[in-house]
Amino acid sequence: MWRKNHLKAIRKERDEYGLGKKQVTSLIDIQLHLKVLVLFSTSFMIWFLFLLGFSPKRISNPIRGFLSTPPAECKDNFSVYIHNLPSKYNFDLLRDCSSLNIYTDMCPHVTNNGLGNPLLEMGSSWFTTHQLIAELIFHARIQNHPCRTDDANNSTLFYIPFYGGLHASSKFREPNYTVRDALAVELVEYIQEKKWWKRNSGRDHFMVFGRTAWDFMRTDEVPDFGANKLLNMSPVQNMSVLLVERHPWEGHNQYGIPYPSYFHPSTSAEMVEWQNNMSYMDRSHLFSFVGAPRTGKKKVVTRDRVIKQCEESSNCMILKCGHGPSKCHKPREVVKVMMRSNFCLQVLGDSYTRRSTFDSMLAGCIPVFFSKHTAYSQYQWFLPSDPTTYSVYIDLERNHSIKIEEELLKIPMDEVERKRRTVIEFIPTLTYAHPNSTSYGFKDVVDVALKALSNHVSALLKPS
Ligand SMILES: *[C@@H]1O[C@H](CO)[C@@H](O)[C@H](O)[C@H]1NC(C)=O
Ligand SMILES: *[C@@H]1O[C@H](CO)[C@@H](O)[C@H](O)[C@H]1NC(C)=O
Ligand SMILES: *[C@@H]1O[C@H](CO)[C@@H](O)[C@H](O)[C@H]1NC(C)=O
Ligand SMILES: *[C@@H]1O[C@H](CO)[C@@H](O)[C@H](O)[C@H]1NC(C)=O
Ligand SMILES: *[C@@H]1O[C@H](CO)[C@@H](O)[C@H](O)[C@H]1NC(C)=O
Ligand SMILES: *[C@@H]1O[C@H](CO)[C@@H](O)[C@H](O)[C@H]1NC(C)=O
Ligand SMILES: *[C@@H]1O[C@H](CO)[C@@H](O)[C@H](O)[C@H]1NC(C)=O
Ligand SMILES: *[C@@H]1O[C@H](CO)[C@@H](O)[C@H](O)[C@H]1NC(C)=O
Repeated sequence: MWRKNHLKAIRKERDEYGLGKKQVTSLIDIQLHLKVLVLFSTSFMIWFLFLLGFSPKRISNPIRGFLSTPPAECKDNFSVYIHNLPSKYNFDLLRDCSSLNIYTDMCPHVTNNGLGNPLLEMGSSWFTTHQLIAELIFHARIQNHPCRTDDANNSTLFYIPFYGGLHASSKFREPNYTVRDALAVELVEYIQEKKWWKRNSGRDHFMVFGRTAWDFMRTDEVPDFGANKLLNMSPVQNMSVLLVERHPWEGHNQYGIPYPSYFHPSTSAEMVEWQNNMSYMDRSHLFSFVGAPRTGKKKVVTRDRVIKQCEESSNCMILKCGHGPSKCHKPREVVKVMMRSNFCLQVLGDSYTRRSTFDSMLAGCIPVFFSKHTAYSQYQWFLPSDPTTYSVYIDLERNHSIKIEEELLKIPMDEVERKRRTVIEFIPTLTYAHPNSTSYGFKDVVDVALKALSNHVSALLKPS
């Protein structure tokens, strides 16, 4: 029953770090950790050692050498064919970009193949990328991918470039289910008629959506605000669906992909430079939280507890999002806080997952999770299988008395350093490379996803 209720309540809002129009709240002074040394004389030694441990000199061997050389042609044993869909399923939707999302004007976000506008203040490879736009970037990346083929007969994978997430969010307010579902239903009918679908009953086919599974899983019993029924249609069960959040219990054919962050490098040199910079960062905050409080719902109790603990700790930096303009909507401010923190709290909000997880890992900040479904049951293709190697898990739901700060201070220095190295090592895998580049020289989200998918599909199709 809880799951059903949960499903009903989940709707990802327009902005990771807030609800609507935002305002500045408390931005704790960056110098604050100095006061902490005086205030907490008992934890002085630990904290001192902490700072010592993370001084740049201690890192003898910064990240280097794990990037492969650029593949000029396809070096993998798979190929991907893009179905040539009528443009009403993708590009035509973009023409109406101002009504793609009931909360926000998507026009600035669909530019540059979904990267959004350049964020020049942070460098040439930075963009104000919207959190729910992965389907556009994916499409562009596959279009330019060295393993893309025009020879359908020989292709391992079949990509259906339907901008289903953008379409779903444009219909959230449509009360007539038939109308709301129409385009998705048409697509499923269209694709089933294709020769290449019939060959393997769609088992080598996949779709990619930049929104959560909950937006496509309306059932007849549970009327859900906004959602359509695409992922509950039976032909769709035959293919693989990649989404930024999978349904943890029912998403047997769903695979989690990282939310896009702001960094979209074209070369491995840029990537390595960023990784090196992150491993040398002076991290003056023990932990931080960037986000907004949620009101009313039972599931957000944990979020409120986490925010309260952060506010009450002088070791925690909080960048709070409210109504009105706020620093938490400036990517630079968000990344800056994360770059200066050892741990970043990733507590669930509108849904289990957060774009913030990927922003923080990009900034070399170790994620702290409060639910297994924020990452562990989501991004298995992209993250180490042992969660303790890169993250911290705190079961606040089981025991409300746990003090986050105490738990984090308990972690030995060398373990913190090990976790951070893993986080930084995994940045390329969690990054969407610039789609215009074909020889960026590292394996990004799309490379990893296609490889994992092809292994999955070849296992599925293997005659038994
Ligand atoms: C298509 O591929 C199969 C092997 O997968 C091959 O037997 C067949 O001849 C190919 N057909 C054409 C028209 O190329
Ligand atoms: C691709 O298909 C052609 C015929 O259409 C065939 O001659 C060729 O061997 C195939 N290539 C691979 C890698 O299977
Ligand atoms: C919903 O839309 C369909 C198609 O336009 C129409 O046939 C049907 O009568 C509508 N249903 C309701 C309840 O308005
Ligand atoms: C889905 O796959 C099953 C076999 O696994 C097949 O019988 C069925 O026809 C497929 N559905 C569609 C719509 O292709
Ligand atoms: C890395 O740090 C150096 C020195 O602070 C800076 O000049 C450079 O722009 C940084 N590189 C990136 C990719 O941020
Ligand atoms: C809950 O956490 C507190 C603080 O860490 C601890 O003292 C207490 O023993 C825990 N209770 C349970 C039931 O685990
Ligand atoms: C990528 O390439 C396309 C086509 O050449 C071009 O129109 C677009 O401006 C480029 N995008 C960026 C961000 O450089
Ligand atoms: C590619 O190679 C891997 C082993 O490296 C294998 O498991 C997989 O089945 C191969 N995929 C295809 C499509 O041949």
